[in-house]
Amino acid sequence: MKTRLYVYTGTGNSLWVARQLASELKRASVEFMPCPKKPFKVQAEAVGIIFPVHIWGLPSRVIQFANHLKVKPGTYFFAVAVNAGQPAATLLQLQRLMAACGLSLSLGYSIVLPSNYIPWGGPGPMDAQQKLFQEARAKVKAVAGAVLSRERHKVERGPLWQNIFFSLLYKLSFRQVRKMDKKLWADEKCNSCGICALVCPAANIEMIKKKPAWLHRCEQCLACLQWCPQEAIQYGEKTVTYQRYHHPEVTLKDMLEQAKGKQV
Ligand SMILES: Cc1cc2nc3c(=O)[nH]c(=O)nc-3n(C[C@H](O)[C@H](O)[C@H](O)COP(=O)(O)O)c2cc1C
Ligand code: SF4
Ligand code: SF4
Repeated sequence: MKTRLYVYTGTGNSLWVARQLASELKRASVEFMPCPKKPFKVQAEAVGIIFPVHIWGLPSRVIQFANHLKVKPGTYFFAVAVNAGQPAATLLQLQRLMAACGLSLSLGYSIVLPSNYIPWGGPGPMDAQQKLFQEARAKVKAVAGAVLSRERHKVERGPLWQNIFFSLLYKLSFRQVRKMDKKLWADEKCNSCGICALVCPAANIEMIKKKPAWLHRCEQCLACLQWCPQEAIQYGEKTVTYQRYHHPEVTLKDMLEQAKGKQV
């Protein structure tokens, strides 16, 4: 396979970007990003890393993945940080981390899609979402063009103040992420279907007495909350009335494959 795209997703935005990109690149496969604990060998001419921005930086899984990558010399790397308008210095963080592992990130693009971070409110009105999908399609074509001609550019980033201030907040909050599931809870609408436990990529939910219990090794992807068919999972006190979101072209089946570590 000429290009391998590794994707991590909570609500399908990054998976949708990866699939769009794969169809532009033609000879490309899309694979869910593992969370390796030992060297992870990848054979490809080019490798793409596609993931959501979490708290102005890299999700822990992306760090784990990049730290364990083993490739043949000369492998071409590119990344897409999918976000809701504040990528901050996430791609710089990835570039530096990869450089420390002897890998060179040649391209890093930000693609803005509707927000799945429910504490910020919902994903926004439908027409605004449609506009983002349209802009994202155009940007994917540009990314594919740059990848096909093996370009190298500065990675995209937010304004300087964001990169300084938000990167600091990222550093302060990173260690707390595992325990942020303390704010997640299931209300009386829960019908014990167990989908939240099945969809969690971190195996962080156990059904205890027919209700989900969170085990404090959370990645904060919010898949459990956003994919609960009853909209029974809340984050703190305010989310009862907030609209849920997942990408309209991504299905629960796709998400279950990710959680099972299966191929896309
Ligand atoms: C815990 C968390 C933190 C987030 N932090 C940011 C952020 O710092 N900047 C941003 O633009 N979007 C942020 N988002 C929004 C996601 O990056 C965005 O909605 C993305 O498209 C989700 O992609 P996915 O569906 O592939 O998970 C955050 C989302 C979550 C769940
Ligand atoms: S997915 Fe929702 S309804 Fe199903 S067990 Fe989890 S919280 Fe309850
Ligand atoms: S518990 Fe929910 S938010 Fe945490 S990793 Fe699992 S699915 Fe994602």
